Amino acid sequence: MSNFVNGFSKKNKLEKINWIIENHFHNNKKAKYILFQYLNDDLSIQNLHDEFIENTISNFYLPFAVAPNFLINERYYTLPMATEESSVVAAACKTAKFWAKLGGIKAEVLGIEKIGQIHFFYNGSFLKLKSFFKNIKKKIIEELKPMVSNMEKRGGGINSLELLDMNNKIDNYYQIFVKFNTVDSMGANFINSCLEKITDTIKFFVKEKYFLNENVEKLDFVMSILSNYTPKCLVKASLNCKIEDLEKDNELKGKKFVESFINAVKISKVDTFRAVTHNKGIMNGIDAVVIATGNDFRSVEACIHAYASRNGNYTGLTDAYIKNSDFYFDLMVPISIGTIGGLTKIHPLVNWAHNLLGNPNSNELSQIIVAAGLIQNFAALKSLITTGIQKGHMKMHLLNILTQLGADQIQKSKALEYFKTNPVTHKKVREFLNNE
Ligand code: MEV
Repeated sequence: MSNFVNGFSKKNKLEKINWIIENHFHNNKKAKYILFQYLNDDLSIQNLHDEFIENTISNFYLPFAVAPNFLINERYYTLPMATEESSVVAAACKTAKFWAKLGGIKAEVLGIEKIGQIHFFYNGSFLKLKSFFKNIKKKIIEELKPMVSNMEKRGGGINSLELLDMNNKIDNYYQIFVKFNTVDSMGANFINSCLEKITDTIKFFVKEKYFLNENVEKLDFVMSILSNYTPKCLVKASLNCKIEDLEKDNELKGKKFVESFINAVKISKVDTFRAVTHNKGIMNGIDAVVIATGNDFRSVEACIHAYASRNGNYTGLTDAYIKNSDFYFDLMVPISIGTIGGLTKIHPLVNWAHNLLGNPNSNELSQIIVAAGLIQNFAALKSLITTGIQKGHMKMHLLNILTQLGADQIQKSKALEYFKTNPVTHKKVREFLNNE
């Protein structure tokens, strides 16, 4: 049977489901039932989800959890976290509480500049192009006025427009490089609309030969699009304490702990295999809050990993050191997210997450997100250099194994008790249930 289909998007939801079940699942009833299990009975929610994307046939749930006791810049936050990974939230809670007792996390936003690019080719004199661009710049800004006026009222807008000669990379390649401030919105739509408007304005002036002698011909536009790389949107979160304070909750003595901790961070700076895992642990915290607050985790991920490679090698993103006999631990990464626009108001649970955080502006939310990454990395490194991660991990994983093996609630409670003092393995859990 061929699974090629024409006009799929024109089918209604039930027709789509029936087509899928018939063609990919041999009409299996259970396969159909699973899709329906995840549909929401509340139509106001379901219709909303149906409209987010095309061809929605069900919903994909992630657990939505909260992590209290995040003391950031002297204010307590309870973080919303959406993740499927066992132990991420437990580690965040435990570590945030530990650091809250030591004064909490300090966070700051170091910049908010975003970038848009218009890529084009031009096979002519650069001087002529430069002079054309100089003439047209004022006109471009005038044409953009209606589009940017709202953003300007909110304190943002276009910071600069520059013509870049990129011939050293590709022959005849140029860019118009635009810097934006999009205040509390992530700004993707705003930036892309402005860029397309700039491109249209330039095309118009070229076509109309507006600047007579200074005119250029045959600008070959390739694309106009924001860059998700925002190295000027830097956000820093820091922890510091007396070395002895680290002994309070620790199996290693303060000095030895700090030594191993700093070595673990050093390794992430020189070894790519370790750096990727180190940063993955940071992203466990960052992504969970980014997703729960309805932001674009793909752009946050892409940007942060590009930043981790900014010096030519991919390296760990945190820094640990001793200064004036105190222990310091920092994370500085670019974050470009929004607290208005996108899903923030239309997705009820996302809106709830913003309410939980006290409706932060984008600077505040960026600080919260980086704090989550820093705390998660501290938690991971701490267990790696002390007990190893499997102990904590398998305890959290125990519930998943029990569910997988079909344990009921009573068996689960008994198993949780038993495995408090016994190592968790898949085999041991199976044996435990068999002996029950
Ligand atoms: C697991 O999701 C994350 C860790 O592997 C991070 C790390 O190794 O630093 C524990």
